[in-house]
Amino acid sequence: MGGKSFGAAALLLILLNVAHGGKTSPFMRKVRRTEDMPLHSDVFAAPSGYNAPQQVHITIGDHVGRAMIVSWVTVDEPGNSLVQYWSEDSSQKREVAKGNHVTYRFFNYSSGFIHHCTLRDLEFNKKYYYEIGIGHTIRQFWFMTPPEVHPDAPYTFGLIGDLGQTFDSNTTLAHYESNPHKGQAVLFVGDLSYADNHPNHDNVRWDTWGRFVERNTAYQPWIWATGNHELDYAPELGETEPFKPFKHRYHVPYKASGSTEPFWYSVKIASAHIIVLASYSAYGKYTPQYEWLEAELKKVDRSKTPWLIVLVHSPWYNSYTYHYMEGESMRVMFEPWFVKYKVDVVFAGHVHAYERSERISNIEYNLVNGRCGPVKDLSAPVYVNIGDGGNIEGLATNMTNPQPEYSAYREASFGHAIFEIKNKTHAHYSWHRNEDDFAVTADSMWFFNRVWHPVDDSTTN
Ligand SMILES: *[C@@H]1O[C@H](CO)[C@@H](O)[C@H](O)[C@H]1NC(C)=O
Ligand SMILES: *[C@@H]1O[C@H](CO)[C@@H](O)[C@H](O)[C@H]1NC(C)=O
Ligand SMILES: *[C@@H]1O[C@H](CO)[C@@H](O)[C@H](O)[C@H]1NC(C)=O
Ligand SMILES: *[C@@H]1O[C@H](CO)[C@@H](O)[C@H](O)[C@H]1NC(C)=O
Ligand SMILES: [Fe+2]
Repeated sequence: MGGKSFGAAALLLILLNVAHGGKTSPFMRKVRRTEDMPLHSDVFAAPSGYNAPQQVHITIGDHVGRAMIVSWVTVDEPGNSLVQYWSEDSSQKREVAKGNHVTYRFFNYSSGFIHHCTLRDLEFNKKYYYEIGIGHTIRQFWFMTPPEVHPDAPYTFGLIGDLGQTFDSNTTLAHYESNPHKGQAVLFVGDLSYADNHPNHDNVRWDTWGRFVERNTAYQPWIWATGNHELDYAPELGETEPFKPFKHRYHVPYKASGSTEPFWYSVKIASAHIIVLASYSAYGKYTPQYEWLEAELKKVDRSKTPWLIVLVHSPWYNSYTYHYMEGESMRVMFEPWFVKYKVDVVFAGHVHAYERSERISNIEYNLVNGRCGPVKDLSAPVYVNIGDGGNIEGLATNMTNPQPEYSAYREASFGHAIFEIKNKTHAHYSWHRNEDDFAVTADSMWFFNRVWHPVDDSTTN
């Protein structure tokens, strides 16, 4: 296509988009190859020392933030599963918690010794140091516990999805770490290592991923949701237990919220009630996930946790041409509940690009009325797709045109987001693309809480 006609086509598209309300960013990014960092990369280096703990990561270990699950891998021998820990102001009076370890095999891969240890009865809002390992190879880390659950407790979440382990993934993580908004915990919307894109789902790539993200996951709790790249279902390799590597490596506190599987559960952090859903576990009527969610939504107390946040891998609203309608059957099952219970925001991934919707719902349809399109609905959540972590599969660049009215902003760039709860009525949300300097906000909105300040917070029209 010649320069002139391309320019004219682009202008036409921009006009069309303006006519339809939302914004399709004209931002042009450098076209680069997206490939996994080579095995000898600095970020994959194993810590030195015999049997040194590696792939350290933590997550909230109970329902309210007074426990932390510490996980790590040792490769030479089981070692022990002890964690020594002390709070900053305890003059190093140490407590010891004992966990256990698991191993698994995947095709011809044998895992290291994967340790999980839960530290309980922690104090809220306190810095803790912790040490793992024995003898010469003790490694020390630290974390902050969240503040006590309280309706006005401020808290800042990072949002990352579909991360993988490419050079772009590394840039995304570096941008999150250097973001002046300073996330305190990460809400991760699924698709961690993309090991399954390597021959035989090479599980060595689960280990390299664990070492790559350790620089953050050892210090901040990451709240895990599962994506399709956690399935690792490979009957051709004799591997038919879904989620096998994920389940062994990443423990979550699902029992604390009455769940029966680690793929759907909830945690309360500060002023937020976070519900994690599973796109790749059954969710039809009478299934365990359905019954759990139905009961869970009734338990949410907005006078204690004003902010109701949902994480799910496969988006319900997505105006790119990728994964078209994949989230549709789950939307049909659960969307009426999300409107009834006034969910503030739903974070999803799966589509490797960025998009933010207005508050919309599509719950009126029955067999005769024909009302099957999304409409503005102030009781409905905003839907954010943050699947732009930068994995090996590359960017999703192809969008449907014109941009649907419900789509407030979309852009095919890698990045991460920040959800910064200020108090029970206001939260500031921002999206940060990797091409910009750390402090630059590429898209943002003020969220008004759906229960305590339910006025129109839309950003278009
Ligand atoms: C697993 O099998 C593949 C393909 O046969 C081979 O390339 C690889 O070296 C094997 N790995 C181990 C740990 O045996
Ligand atoms: C990954 O990012 C970190 C932090 O910016 C940097 O120190 C490291 O060299 C990067 N590694 C690769 C392989 O890009
Ligand atoms: C891009 O999306 C359009 C629909 O908007 C579709 O017709 C076209 O085939 C897609 N192109 C590619 C390369 O996927
Ligand atoms: C809540 O935070 C917003 C944004 O910082 C602020 O404008 C508002 O006054 C705060 N509300 C209260 C009751 O402090
Ligand atoms: Fe995905």
